[in-house]
Amino acid sequence: MARLNGKVAVITGAGSGIGRVAATLFAAEGAQVVVADVMADQAASAAAEIIGAGGSAIAVTVDVTDEEQVNAMVAAAVSTYGGLHVVFNNAGIFPDDDGGILDTPPETWQKVMEVNLKGVWLGCRAAVPAMLDSGGGSIVNVASFVALMGAATAQIAYTASKGGVLAMTRELAVEYARKGIRANSICPGPIETPLLAELLADPTRRQRRLVHIPIGRFGRPEEIAKAALFLASDDSSFVTGSALVVDGGITAAYVTPE
Ligand SMILES: NC(=O)c1ccc[n+]([C@@H]2O[C@H](COP(=O)([O-])OP(=O)(O)OC[C@H]3O[C@@H](n4cnc5c(N)ncnc54)[C@H](O)[C@@H]3O)[C@@H](O)[C@H]2O)c1
Repeated sequence: MARLNGKVAVITGAGSGIGRVAATLFAAEGAQVVVADVMADQAASAAAEIIGAGGSAIAVTVDVTDEEQVNAMVAAAVSTYGGLHVVFNNAGIFPDDDGGILDTPPETWQKVMEVNLKGVWLGCRAAVPAMLDSGGGSIVNVASFVALMGAATAQIAYTASKGGVLAMTRELAVEYARKGIRANSICPGPIETPLLAELLADPTRRQRRLVHIPIGRFGRPEEIAKAALFLASDDSSFVTGSALVVDGGITAAYVTPE
């Protein structure tokens, strides 16, 4: 049986990469999907693809840093589909000039915090009342393996923002555990998406990342989308406050095999 039958799901950053693949997967599993992204064209084309494949979706243009827009995104889910059961707070940025602690400009720090941390907070904040009205729900927030260990290449704002996502999600999970809302994080390793395109196009930086991955390759967006599906669905009904690591073994390794 389809694992998200009868569920309404909002996915942010659904115009590209992991979010786009998750939107398609969630719809194929029976969800009615709100495809939300700051890139209006990308959101529209992702929703059109889902509808073309026989699924149910609407596109919403949202900047996750803007409280009114985030509230409007959740309101669109409720007014179109009658409730809200799943939020996948996936939108995130990884600017090129986010580097070491001495190099990263304060404006970059601020922007990364706004999108990657405040954006997730606003998404949770808007979703909770709608989920309570809908009889409960599942919040899935995207962190990163760098929230668990220092990255080989410094990206100080990104790492700090993802650490915040992990901590915030745990606390949210505890607060709502007896009220029918579960909240979990996913910690992806490096995944081949547009977010990492520039980094992975540089052979030296690519190799520097690859050497730390026991599985010996980068991840694919569908490998994160499937983890999100598990956490979104009732298959994970006793899982809350967890950080699901999907990283090809990076965080397990001290040394990698030859
Ligand atoms: N790709 C990786 O290696 C990797 C690893 C760990 C974590 N992640 C996380 O996974 C998530 C998805 O990343 P991806 O690799 O699919 O990236 P991506 O760049 O392909 O997609 C990110 C999407 O977020 C959207 N977005 C950016 N700012 C936004 C805003 N203010 N409001 C609404 N939407 C906005 C973009 O338009 C884009 O469609 C991010 O949170 C990222 O940090 C990615």
